[in-house]
Amino acid sequence: MSGKLQLDAIKVAPPDTVTIDPAILYMGTPVVLISSLNEDGTPNLAPMSSAWWLGWGCMLGLNRSSKTVENILRTGQCVLNLPAETQVASVDRLALTTGSNPVPPNKVPIGFRYVADKFRLAGLTPVPSDQVIVPRALECPVQLEAELAAVHEFGVDNPRIRTPMKAIEVRIVRVHAAENILRNDNKDRIDPEKWRPLIMSFREFYGLGCNLHNSRLAEFPEELFKPVKFRQASAATADADT
Ligand SMILES: Cc1cc2nc3c(=O)[nH]c(=O)nc-3n(C[C@H](O)[C@H](O)[C@H](O)COP(=O)(O)O)c2cc1C
Repeated sequence: MSGKLQLDAIKVAPPDTVTIDPAILYMGTPVVLISSLNEDGTPNLAPMSSAWWLGWGCMLGLNRSSKTVENILRTGQCVLNLPAETQVASVDRLALTTGSNPVPPNKVPIGFRYVADKFRLAGLTPVPSDQVIVPRALECPVQLEAELAAVHEFGVDNPRIRTPMKAIEVRIVRVHAAENILRNDNKDRIDPEKWRPLIMSFREFYGLGCNLHNSRLAEFPEELFKPVKFRQASAATADADT
Protein backbone atom coordinates (compact mmCIF):
# COMPACT_ATOMS: atom_id res chain seq x y z
CA MET A 1 0.00 0.00 0.00
CA SER A 2 2.99 2.32 0.16
CA GLY A 3 2.58 5.34 -2.06
CA LYS A 4 -1.21 5.03 -2.15
CA LEU A 5 -3.67 7.29 -0.42
CA GLN A 6 -5.22 5.59 2.61
CA LEU A 7 -8.79 6.06 1.33
CA ASP A 8 -10.27 3.19 3.38
CA ALA A 9 -9.40 5.08 6.53
CA ILE A 10 -11.48 8.08 5.49
CA LYS A 11 -15.14 7.76 6.46
CA VAL A 12 -17.16 9.50 3.75
CA ALA A 13 -20.80 10.36 4.25
CA PRO A 14 -22.95 9.73 1.16
CA PRO A 15 -23.36 13.02 -0.70
CA ASP A 16 -26.64 14.86 -0.77
CA THR A 17 -27.62 14.84 -4.44
CA VAL A 18 -29.88 17.12 -6.38
CA THR A 19 -31.09 16.72 -9.97
CA ILE A 20 -29.29 19.08 -12.33
CA ASP A 21 -29.54 20.13 -15.99
CA PRO A 22 -25.97 20.14 -17.40
CA ALA A 23 -25.42 20.84 -21.09
CA ILE A 24 -22.64 18.25 -21.36
CA LEU A 25 -21.62 15.12 -19.47
CA TYR A 26 -17.89 15.08 -20.27
CA MET A 27 -16.72 13.33 -17.11
CA GLY A 28 -13.01 13.17 -17.93
CA THR A 29 -11.35 11.22 -20.74
CA PRO A 30 -7.92 11.28 -22.40
CA VAL A 31 -7.27 13.82 -25.13
CA VAL A 32 -6.50 12.23 -28.50
CA LEU A 33 -4.98 14.07 -31.46
CA ILE A 34 -6.33 12.25 -34.49
CA SER A 35 -4.19 12.49 -37.60
CA SER A 36 -5.91 11.82 -40.89
CA LEU A 37 -5.17 12.42 -44.56
CA ASN A 38 -6.80 15.20 -46.61
CA GLU A 39 -7.79 14.59 -50.23
CA ASP A 40 -4.69 16.47 -51.45
CA GLY A 41 -2.38 14.19 -49.45
CA THR A 42 -1.62 16.70 -46.67
CA PRO A 43 -2.20 15.61 -43.05
CA ASN A 44 -4.90 16.96 -40.73
CA LEU A 45 -4.66 16.87 -36.93
CA ALA A 46 -7.68 17.25 -34.64
CA PRO A 47 -8.06 17.19 -30.87
CA MET A 48 -10.90 15.13 -29.44
CA SER A 49 -11.61 13.39 -26.15
CA SER A 50 -14.73 11.23 -26.60
CA ALA A 51 -12.70 8.05 -26.97
CA TRP A 52 -12.59 4.68 -25.23
CA TRP A 53 -10.72 1.45 -25.83
CA LEU A 54 -11.51 -2.27 -25.62
CA GLY A 55 -8.62 -4.56 -26.48
CA TRP A 56 -7.03 -3.33 -29.70
CA GLY A 57 -10.19 -1.43 -30.67
CA CYS A 58 -11.29 2.13 -30.05
CA MET A 59 -14.59 3.99 -30.32
CA LEU A 60 -14.37 7.64 -31.35
CA GLY A 61 -17.26 10.05 -30.82
CA LEU A 62 -17.01 12.75 -33.48
CA ASN A 63 -19.10 15.59 -34.81
CA ARG A 64 -20.23 14.69 -38.31
CA SER A 65 -19.09 18.08 -39.62
CA SER A 66 -15.42 17.54 -38.76
CA LYS A 67 -12.79 17.18 -41.48
CA THR A 68 -11.47 14.19 -39.54
CA VAL A 69 -14.70 12.24 -40.06
CA GLU A 70 -14.66 13.05 -43.79
CA ASN A 71 -11.03 11.90 -44.03
CA ILE A 72 -11.50 8.67 -42.04
CA LEU A 73 -14.57 7.67 -44.07
CA ARG A 74 -12.73 8.34 -47.36
CA THR A 75 -9.37 6.71 -46.55
CA GLY A 76 -10.43 4.11 -43.92
CA GLN A 77 -7.44 5.11 -41.77
CA CYS A 78 -6.21 7.41 -39.01
CA VAL A 79 -3.65 7.58 -36.20
CA LEU A 80 -4.64 8.20 -32.56
CA ASN A 81 -1.83 10.27 -31.03
CA LEU A 82 -2.07 10.64 -27.25
CA PRO A 83 -0.38 13.75 -25.83
CA ALA A 84 1.16 13.83 -22.37
CA GLU A 85 -0.06 16.39 -19.86
CA THR A 86 3.10 18.45 -20.53
CA GLN A 87 1.85 19.01 -24.12
CA VAL A 88 -1.29 20.85 -23.02
CA ALA A 89 -0.31 24.23 -24.55
CA SER A 90 0.28 22.57 -27.89
CA VAL A 91 -3.15 20.88 -27.76
CA ASP A 92 -4.88 24.10 -26.76
CA ARG A 93 -3.50 25.86 -29.84
CA LEU A 94 -5.55 23.41 -31.95
CA ALA A 95 -8.82 24.30 -30.21
CA LEU A 96 -11.46 26.03 -32.38
CA THR A 97 -9.63 25.14 -35.58
CA THR A 98 -10.79 22.92 -38.41
CA GLY A 99 -9.26 21.45 -41.53
CA SER A 100 -12.56 22.11 -43.33
CA ASN A 101 -12.58 25.02 -45.78
CA PRO A 102 -14.99 26.75 -45.63
CA VAL A 103 -15.67 26.35 -41.90
CA PRO A 104 -18.91 24.31 -41.47
CA PRO A 105 -21.92 26.56 -40.64
CA ASN A 106 -22.45 24.98 -37.18
CA LYS A 107 -18.88 25.97 -36.19
CA VAL A 108 -18.93 29.59 -37.44
CA PRO A 109 -20.91 31.10 -34.51
CA ILE A 110 -18.49 29.65 -31.92
CA GLY A 111 -15.44 31.16 -33.61
CA PHE A 112 -13.82 28.23 -35.46
CA ARG A 113 -11.24 29.10 -38.13
CA TYR A 114 -9.76 27.09 -40.98
CA VAL A 115 -6.12 26.04 -40.53
CA ALA A 116 -4.42 24.18 -43.37
CA ASP A 117 -1.39 22.91 -41.42
CA LYS A 118 -2.42 21.95 -37.89
CA PHE A 119 0.74 19.90 -37.24
CA ARG A 120 2.65 23.16 -37.66
CA LEU A 121 0.21 25.13 -35.50
CA ALA A 122 0.68 22.58 -32.70
CA GLY A 123 4.46 22.43 -33.15
CA LEU A 124 4.29 18.69 -33.82
CA THR A 125 6.15 16.70 -36.47
CA PRO A 126 4.39 14.36 -38.91
CA VAL A 127 6.41 11.17 -39.44
CA PRO A 128 5.53 8.10 -41.54
CA SER A 129 3.53 5.28 -39.97
CA ASP A 130 4.18 1.56 -40.48
CA GLN A 131 0.79 0.14 -41.44
CA VAL A 132 -1.23 3.15 -42.62
CA ILE A 133 -0.48 6.00 -45.02
CA VAL A 134 -1.55 8.58 -42.42
CA PRO A 135 1.45 10.13 -40.58
CA ARG A 136 1.75 10.00 -36.78
CA ALA A 137 2.77 12.81 -34.43
CA LEU A 138 6.39 12.20 -33.42
CA GLU A 139 6.30 14.09 -30.09
CA CYS A 140 3.23 12.29 -28.67
CA PRO A 141 4.33 9.47 -26.32
CA VAL A 142 1.65 7.09 -27.63
CA GLN A 143 0.69 6.72 -31.30
CA LEU A 144 -1.89 4.13 -32.35
CA GLU A 145 -2.16 3.37 -36.06
CA ALA A 146 -5.76 2.48 -36.87
CA GLU A 147 -8.10 1.24 -39.60
CA LEU A 148 -11.80 1.92 -39.88
CA ALA A 149 -13.92 -1.00 -38.61
CA ALA A 150 -17.50 0.34 -38.42
CA VAL A 151 -19.50 3.56 -38.35
CA HIS A 152 -22.60 4.11 -36.24
CA GLU A 153 -24.92 7.11 -36.15
CA PHE A 154 -24.94 8.46 -32.58
CA GLY A 155 -27.75 10.24 -30.77
CA VAL A 156 -30.14 10.31 -33.72
CA ASP A 157 -33.25 10.06 -31.52
CA ASN A 158 -31.74 11.83 -28.52
CA PRO A 159 -33.40 15.23 -28.05
CA ARG A 160 -30.51 16.31 -25.76
CA ILE A 161 -27.89 16.01 -28.51
CA ARG A 162 -27.64 19.22 -30.52
CA THR A 163 -25.66 18.20 -33.61
CA PRO A 164 -25.47 14.86 -35.43
CA MET A 165 -22.59 12.68 -34.23
CA LYS A 166 -20.90 9.55 -35.42
CA ALA A 167 -19.43 6.78 -33.32
CA ILE A 168 -16.49 5.54 -35.37
CA GLU A 169 -15.03 2.18 -34.42
CA VAL A 170 -11.41 1.69 -35.39
CA ARG A 171 -9.11 -1.32 -35.20
CA ILE A 172 -5.62 -0.63 -33.86
CA VAL A 173 -2.99 -2.14 -36.16
CA ARG A 174 0.27 -0.83 -34.66
CA VAL A 175 1.17 0.57 -31.23
CA HIS A 176 4.09 2.99 -30.81
CA ALA A 177 5.09 4.07 -27.31
CA ALA A 178 7.94 6.18 -25.96
CA GLU A 179 10.61 4.09 -24.21
CA ASN A 180 10.41 6.26 -21.11
CA ILE A 181 6.79 5.32 -20.34
CA LEU A 182 7.37 1.54 -20.48
CA ARG A 183 7.65 -0.78 -17.51
CA ASN A 184 11.17 -1.77 -16.54
CA ASP A 185 10.26 -5.48 -16.30
CA ASN A 186 8.19 -5.74 -19.51
CA LYS A 187 8.85 -3.57 -22.55
CA ASP A 188 5.46 -4.52 -24.08
CA ARG A 189 3.61 -2.75 -21.28
CA ILE A 190 2.95 0.93 -20.67
CA ASP A 191 3.69 1.77 -17.04
CA PRO A 192 0.80 3.80 -15.59
CA GLU A 193 3.24 5.20 -13.03
CA LYS A 194 5.16 6.82 -15.91
CA TRP A 195 2.37 7.61 -18.38
CA ARG A 196 0.75 10.97 -17.73
CA PRO A 197 -2.05 11.42 -20.29
CA LEU A 198 -3.74 14.76 -20.77
CA ILE A 199 -7.34 14.56 -19.56
CA MET A 200 -10.26 16.75 -20.60
CA SER A 201 -12.99 17.07 -18.00
CA PHE A 202 -15.96 19.34 -18.67
CA ARG A 203 -13.85 21.20 -21.29
CA GLU A 204 -10.98 21.90 -18.87
CA PHE A 205 -7.51 20.31 -18.98
CA TYR A 206 -6.29 18.03 -16.17
CA GLY A 207 -3.62 15.46 -15.47
CA LEU A 208 -4.17 12.16 -13.72
CA GLY A 209 -2.89 12.97 -10.25
CA CYS A 210 -1.50 10.12 -8.18
CA ASN A 211 -2.45 6.46 -8.09
CA LEU A 212 -5.32 6.26 -5.58
CA HIS A 213 -5.81 2.68 -4.50
CA ASN A 214 -4.88 -0.95 -5.16
CA SER A 215 -6.91 -2.17 -8.14
CA ARG A 216 -8.36 -5.70 -8.03
CA LEU A 217 -8.90 -5.51 -11.79
CA ALA A 218 -5.13 -5.30 -12.21
CA GLU A 219 -4.43 -8.48 -10.18
CA PHE A 220 -4.67 -11.05 -13.01
CA PRO A 221 -2.07 -10.97 -15.84
CA GLU A 222 -2.70 -8.37 -18.52
CA GLU A 223 -1.71 -10.99 -21.12
CA LEU A 224 -5.15 -12.65 -20.64
CA PHE A 225 -6.78 -9.76 -22.50
CA LYS A 226 -5.11 -11.02 -25.69
CA PRO A 227 -6.85 -13.61 -27.90
CA VAL A 228 -5.06 -16.95 -27.18
CA LYS A 229 -3.16 -17.08 -30.50
CA PHE A 230 -1.45 -13.73 -29.78
CA ARG A 231 -0.31 -14.70 -26.27
CA GLN A 232 3.17 -15.50 -25.07
CA ALA A 233 3.51 -19.29 -24.72
CA SER A 234 3.79 -19.15 -20.93
CA ALA A 235 0.43 -17.39 -20.45
CA ALA A 236 -2.69 -19.24 -19.28
CA THR A 237 -5.62 -19.90 -21.62
CA ALA A 238 -8.34 -18.30 -19.46
CA ASP A 239 -10.02 -15.25 -20.93
CA ALA A 240 -10.33 -11.76 -19.52
CA ASP A 241 -13.52 -10.04 -20.58
CA THR A 242 -14.02 -6.91 -18.60
C1 LIG B 1 -9.41 19.06 -26.10
C2 LIG B 1 -10.51 18.98 -27.12
C3 LIG B 1 -11.37 17.89 -27.13
C4 LIG B 1 -12.37 17.77 -28.11
N1 LIG B 1 -13.17 16.67 -28.11
C5 LIG B 1 -14.01 16.46 -29.17
C6 LIG B 1 -14.73 15.23 -29.28
O1 LIG B 1 -14.61 14.34 -28.45
N2 LIG B 1 -15.53 15.08 -30.37
C7 LIG B 1 -15.67 16.05 -31.33
O2 LIG B 1 -16.40 15.84 -32.31
N3 LIG B 1 -15.00 17.21 -31.23
C8 LIG B 1 -14.17 17.44 -30.19
N4 LIG B 1 -13.46 18.61 -30.10
C9 LIG B 1 -13.66 19.61 -31.17
C10 LIG B 1 -12.89 19.25 -32.45
O3 LIG B 1 -11.53 19.49 -32.28
C11 LIG B 1 -13.47 20.03 -33.62
O4 LIG B 1 -14.67 19.40 -34.01
C12 LIG B 1 -12.57 20.20 -34.82
O5 LIG B 1 -13.29 20.85 -35.84
C13 LIG B 1 -12.03 18.93 -35.39
O6 LIG B 1 -11.08 19.29 -36.38
P1 LIG B 1 -11.31 18.91 -37.92
O7 LIG B 1 -12.60 19.62 -38.35
O8 LIG B 1 -10.11 19.43 -38.62
O9 LIG B 1 -11.48 17.44 -37.98
C14 LIG B 1 -12.51 18.79 -29.10
C15 LIG B 1 -11.65 19.88 -29.08
C16 LIG B 1 -10.68 20.00 -28.09
C17 LIG B 1 -9.77 21.20 -28.09
